[in-house]
Amino acid sequence: MANSSKNMEQHHIESSPLVIEDSFEGYPLNYFNLPLHYRDDLKSVLIPYGLVQDRIEALASRIFSDLHIHIPEQLICMCVLKGGYRFFSDLVSKIQNENRLRNDRSLPMSLEFIRVRSYVNDRSTEAIDIIGISDLSSLNNKHLLIIEDIIDTGVTMVALKKELEKYNPKTIHVVSLFTKRRTDKKCIFKPDYSGFEVPDHFIVGYALDYNEYFRDLEHICVMKESGITKYKVQDGDKVE
Ligand code: HPA
Ligand code: MG
Repeated sequence: MANSSKNMEQHHIESSPLVIEDSFEGYPLNYFNLPLHYRDDLKSVLIPYGLVQDRIEALASRIFSDLHIHIPEQLICMCVLKGGYRFFSDLVSKIQNENRLRNDRSLPMSLEFIRVRSYVNDRSTEAIDIIGISDLSSLNNKHLLIIEDIIDTGVTMVALKKELEKYNPKTIHVVSLFTKRRTDKKCIFKPDYSGFEVPDHFIVGYALDYNEYFRDLEHICVMKESGITKYKVQDGDKVE
């Protein structure tokens, strides 16, 4: 343990995502304990639950070190439901661990939960409604950390951040567990903190859904085409 304090200071946790390469097809299903009701719908396990937890612990540590300096007041941790609920819960509890174990610094938090409904407005641009906070003007002069499951096109996050900026919070940081490396379009939003960059597959599990299925799955998995067909919503019914 010689030089341990020096090494600790030099250890800098990445805020940018751990890249899962296109060439990585995931782990075979039969090495994992998976719910029977989804086994036939999945192709592979892309990111096991344990790795998700380890990366969240590292993100919590990085966020704690970055934000306690700037934020002596409460940090409002804003959970974007539904997909963000497990990430939010694990991230907040890991920041709480940092708070409990350190006597030299702290990061007080308060918790908010929102849902975002997006639609195309009459000017054919993306518009959103924020549901869950009755009075958004309470965000005035506050520090915000938006906690999101996945940034795919980035369109929703751009609109959400723009909407929240209207209420003049002092700072807004965004953490997303996943960012998607899109092959067609470029993603238009880069979060301040991200857990993993994933290939352009539809991923499910750990509260991420496909039409409300697969939230009750621990690991981050890639779906089979047959699974996508099986749970497809008819008539273009949009499920958020
Ligand atoms: N999985 C689940 N939800 C999503 C995804 C995804 O890959 N992209 C955007 N929302
Ligand atoms: Mg969803």
